[in-house]
This record gives sequence, C-alpha cells and structure tokens, in this order.
Amino acid sequence: MKIAILKERRPHETRVAATPETVKKLKALGATEILIEAGAGTAAAYTDQAYAEAGATVVPDAASATGPADIVFKVQRPMLVEEGHDELSLLRQGQVLMSPLGALFNKDLVTALAQRGVTAFALELIPRITRAQSMDILSSQANLAGYKAVLVAANSYGRILPQMMTPGGTLAPSRSFIMGVGVAGLQAIATARRLGSIVTATDVRPATKEQVQSLGAKFVAVEDEEFKAAETAGGYAKQMSPEYQAKQAALVAEHIRTQDIVITTALIPGRKAPVLVTEDMVKSMKPGSVIVDMAVEQGGNCPLSEFGKTVEKHGVKIVGPANLPAELATDSSALFSRNLLNFITPMVDKETKALAINTEDEVVKGTLVTRDGQVVHPSLQQ
Ligand code: NAI
Repeated sequence: MKIAILKERRPHETRVAATPETVKKLKALGATEILIEAGAGTAAAYTDQAYAEAGATVVPDAASATGPADIVFKVQRPMLVEEGHDELSLLRQGQVLMSPLGALFNKDLVTALAQRGVTAFALELIPRITRAQSMDILSSQANLAGYKAVLVAANSYGRILPQMMTPGGTLAPSRSFIMGVGVAGLQAIATARRLGSIVTATDVRPATKEQVQSLGAKFVAVEDEEFKAAETAGGYAKQMSPEYQAKQAALVAEHIRTQDIVITTALIPGRKAPVLVTEDMVKSMKPGSVIVDMAVEQGGNCPLSEFGKTVEKHGVKIVGPANLPAELATDSSALFSRNLLNFITPMVDKETKALAINTEDEVVKGTLVTRDGQVVHPSLQQ
C-alpha cells in the first residue's frame, strides 16, 4: 500500500492531506511507502524534513508521487485542465482517490474520474453516524472556520467586542448574531462569547435552540409547527416553505438592525445556500457593522457578499472568505489528516496490510462515487 500526498494547487489553499504525525501512523497501519511532493506541507508549517523524519519519501513533483501510488490523498478535488492545472491526468486506472469532491455539484469531475477508471471516495459524503464522527472532514473544518470567522469579523470591526470600563468612560459590548447553528455556528457562538460579545443565534432546526442556550446565547426564530419538524434524519436542515421563510425574514429584519456583527453559516446540502440577509436588511444595519458570509462559496446567505473579497455596502463591511480553514492551515491540516487516517483505517486488511474495500460497509457505501469505470453512488445515478 503506497500512498501519495500532493501539494494542493487550488487558489487560497494552504492545507495538506497528511502531517508527519499521520505519516507515522499510516506506516504503522501498513503503508509501505508514503510519497509526498516536495513543499506539500510548507504553507501549513510542516517541513519536508519533518515528513522525511516521520518516514515519508519526499519526491520532487506530483507525478513522482502519484506514479507508483495505490492511493492518493487530497484536501481539494483534483483540478481539471480548464481550471489551470491538470491534476486529473495524474490519476490512473485502479488508483484510489480519497478527497473531498463536491460530488453532488461537480458531476463532470465525477464522470471524468469514472472514465479514467479511478476508484474515488468523496469525503464530504461521509455519513453522519456516530462511528464516522472521527472521519468527518466537514465537521473538523467547519469548527475551525467558525472560530476564525469571528476573529475575521473582530478584525474588520472598528470597535471592541467586550464591554470595557476605562477611566475615560465605558465602551458598550458588541452584539453578534450567528445565523445557522451547525458545527461552524456553534463554534462561532462560543468564540464570540469568549470575546465578550452579546450573542444571539438562529437556525431552522429545533434541536439547535437548546444548544444555543447552553452556550449562553439567546435563540431567535419563528417556532411554529413547520419549525418543530424541520430536520432530516441525517441531522441536516430541510428547505423551508416560502411562508415560513417570509415569517422568519420579518423576525430577522427586526433583530438585525440592532446587531454589530453578523456571521452567516446556513447551508442546505446539495442546494444553493438560502438568502437570509437581504439588501434591505443590510441597509438597516448601523454603519461600521460587519457581516461574514461563510456560505459565500455556495452562493452566499447575503446577496451582496463576494467570494474572496471584503466589500463595503451601505456602510456595512461584508466579508466573503474564500477558505477560512486554510487560514489556520496547521491545525486544519492536522484535523483533516486525522480524519483521513480514521477513514482509511477500517478499510485496511489487518493480515495483508492492503486496502480491502467492503462495499457493504455504510461509510464506504456513503462515500464511494466511482469504481471500475462506473459512477456507483446512488445520489449520482438518478
Ligand atoms: P450545515 O453546514 O449543512 O448547515 C449549517 C447550519 O445552517 C445548519 O445548522 C442548518 O440547520 C442551518 N440552516 C440551513 N438553512 C437555514 C435557514 N434558512 N435559516 C437558518 N439556518 C439554516 O450543517 P452542519 O454544521 O454540517 O451540521 C448540521 C448538524 O449535523 C450538526 O449540528 C449536528 O447536529 C449534525 N452532525 C452530526 C454528526 C455526526 O453525528 N457524525 C457530525 C456533524 C454534524
């Protein structure tokens, strides 16, 4: 079992799919060789020397890593020629790719992987079951992103977050509103609270109310019958009816006028992000307020946010971060790499030390998208 780790080439990416720590553990698991492209960990503060000391073979370029490898680990889906780099052609028939693929959105990539005969696992599809929590890249990265979003907001805000009593007078505490209380939102609440902000939060899943309150924040939402039923078995949000959305928007419009910092994190799997902060709401906010739109990559929770930019609209700074986990590359790589290690561990045969893919396994079924030249994931076949 030879594993390749590549330097990530997508813009804004600084993470790496293995750390010296996981290199050691992968070797203990049975990997005969870990081939790492020179410089792959540099942006995340993991040096080639540290990888070599951990037992990896540092190779000069991507092709030298993937050439002999049975398995390829990545942080970002392979790039296509039209995206500026041809990473797809580095992969060959029978090779196993373990990477986030955004498979439900990037159907052309999935088809291309199938045509090349690659066995591809889409890590964003790891089922949300207890056994798979330690493999869940979405959670590990969203958690760090939620923390960083608050720091980004605090840096863009021309005032302080906590109340401060000084001889010159008292400065009032800031008010932060977190929209969407999944993994990122919960960490954003906790971080804003630690910085001394007065925090409120909203979500369409009723289970979040108690979580918000347990973190010392106040829950703001229309709690009608539809709200009480609004959660899928997988723990994700459902698309809400237009009537509910209108009621919720009216409540949010009233609340947002008084807020200084708004962090939006609302996502619905497989769909465009819901619009939660309209232009009229932005207009109603105080000058100098800050919005961080964490959903910008999926279309944004605010129509005024722009991917990878900070724009000022109606006196409000609107940040559309391109890749928040990448701004904490050392820690986010450490967690991502451990998630991957935990993902591959049950697939390695203890006797032969080779990959033995059990297609009856729930985690394999949930993530395997291509095999033997075919697209095999049920969500991609309809
Ligand atoms: P996500 O990133 O898909 O969405 C973020 C949040 O936005 C969610 O809480 C969602 O309810 C909310 N949202 C969607 N539409 C909204 C709207 N119109 N207004 C307000 N909020 C809206 O969610 P994430 O963070 O990936 O996780 C969702 C939940 O899944 C977690 O809170 C947790 O309960 C569960 N989970 C379970 C795991 C496991 O058992 N292995 C692992 C991770 C999460």
